[in-house]
Amino acid sequence: TYIVTDACVRCKYMDCVEVCPVDCFYEGENFLVIHPDECIDCGVCEPECPVEAIKPDTEDDADGKWLEINSKYSKIWPNITQIGERPADADEMAKETGKFEKYFS
Ligand code: SF4
Ligand code: F3S
Repeated sequence: TYIVTDACVRCKYMDCVEVCPVDCFYEGENFLVIHPDECIDCGVCEPECPVEAIKPDTEDDADGKWLEINSKYSKIWPNITQIGERPADADEMAKETGKFEKYFS
C-alpha cells in the first residue's frame, strides 16, 4: 500500500485525491491518509504531491508509524475525492519537518 506521511501535515495540498482510481483518501483537519486495505498500489498519486508526502509503506521512514496512522484514521475520517481549500500557510509549513510530533502530540 501507499501511505501519506509527515510532509502532508498542515500542508494538505490535496492534488492527490482527484487522481486515485479507487477514491481511498480520507480527510482530517490537518492532513490526509490513505486506507491501506483499499489502496490498489497503482502509484498514480505519488508524483502528484508537491511535497512528496506519499510513499510506498516499504519506505515508511518512521518504523511503521505512518502505516499505523494511515490505518487508524482512514477508518474514522470522511472520504475525500475533490480538492478543497488549502491551509493559507501551506507553503510555509512545507519547509518544516517532524510536524506530527510538533503539532499533534
Ligand atoms: Fe489511490 Fe493508487 Fe495512490 Fe493507492 S497508490 S492511494 S490506489 S492513487
Ligand atoms: Fe497531502 Fe500531498 Fe495530498 S500534501 S493532501 S499528500 S497532495
